[in-house]
Amino acid sequence: MATQTGITIAGPNAPYTVVDNIPRPTPGPKQALVKSLFVGINPVEPFMQHSGLLIEEFPAIIGSDVTAVVLETGPGCEKLKKGDYVFGCVPIGQNKLSPFQDTFLVVEDWVFKKTDKVSLEGGCTVGSGILTAGLALLDGQYMKLQPAGTSWAGAAINQQSWVIVMGGSGTVGQYAVQIAKLCGYQVLASTSVSKAEIARKAGADATFDNRAPMEEQLGIIERVTGGLFAHVIDASVQAFELSVKALDTISKEKFKYFSTTDDWSEMSVPETISLYRVQLGQLGRFTTDLAKHTNEKVAEMIALFEGHFEAGGLRPLESYQVLDGVGWEKVIEAIDDFEAGKFSQKPIVKVHEE
Ligand SMILES: NC(=O)c1ccc[n+]([C@@H]2O[C@H](COP(=O)([O-])OP(=O)(O)OC[C@H]3O[C@@H](n4cnc5c(N)ncnc54)[C@H](OP(=O)(O)O)[C@@H]3O)[C@@H](O)[C@H]2O)c1
Repeated sequence: MATQTGITIAGPNAPYTVVDNIPRPTPGPKQALVKSLFVGINPVEPFMQHSGLLIEEFPAIIGSDVTAVVLETGPGCEKLKKGDYVFGCVPIGQNKLSPFQDTFLVVEDWVFKKTDKVSLEGGCTVGSGILTAGLALLDGQYMKLQPAGTSWAGAAINQQSWVIVMGGSGTVGQYAVQIAKLCGYQVLASTSVSKAEIARKAGADATFDNRAPMEEQLGIIERVTGGLFAHVIDASVQAFELSVKALDTISKEKFKYFSTTDDWSEMSVPETISLYRVQLGQLGRFTTDLAKHTNEKVAEMIALFEGHFEAGGLRPLESYQVLDGVGWEKVIEAIDDFEAGKFSQKPIVKVHEE
């Protein structure tokens, strides 16, 4: 049996260990065996390592955002062939599908095929951010994103209203800004003062200080939007109260939508507001209706987003940091530094030369 190197975790809160005896998987139908090239670090990695949650088997191999190259395809692959580059966020917690090892399996419908519009490093910033933002807005709030190159009369109507993105400087937030703009809306984003420009570059029309007193933030929301907003996404997991107050007391719309990336805190909203909590971790699980729905929705969104990356309407984040050094020890160091709050931008680690 061919074996390979990677990082394993023996159990909840066990240390990351670099090993060389991981079995190399074989691609099944509609899957490809790929070699990890770059990985992006996300909050979900330390969360999984400490809690053991979302992990299906121990010793566990984890990881989420990745860029990789296809080595071999399984039966029925139509989109991918040997030598193609791919990027995206894997279904987390499943050893054979996880990128913290030399090679792993991707499901071709759940991975982006890379073109020259996206760099190898930039590809690592896309997956979890865009899929989370996409679920929050397109699934949770029924926003319509037309295929690239299609004109749509509804865009003119949307232009008259605003989408509010709490945390518009973060990974999920920047993609939420981009998607809302592509759907035709004006976007108001909350950020810390020093990061307002990041949200502006992603396309936000206006920003406000996410650390200002709540009454001040509500005042700005009212002044900028005039109450013409029905959609709020909290991509910061810090703005539940503000979001609900804004929708409840400022929005003049009849139907109101609140999506959040916080799928763990207890929360309830007034019945005039539709609540959607993103659970990207359901991807690839098949065991519940939500998982099956997520699998279908992700495949649908990836096909749509690939067209928009190619057309230039969507862009990978500019705010990321490629760390010095190559390999699994560097990944472990990056996760530790990430947890210690040492990065102001998303850290990307090279794990193999091509
Ligand atoms: N449920 C799911 O399926 C799912 C999927 C993906 C992510 N998530 C969660 O979603 C969150 C965002 O992920 P991410 O990758 O986008 O993280 P990120 O890049 O670190 O972004 C965090 C955002 O939160 C803002 N923020 C931080 N502290 C804040 C505070 N005290 N008040 C207001 N805003 C604050 C940041 O703004 P400034 O830095 O400008 O202040 C930034 O915009 C994480 O908690 C992650 O675990 C959940």
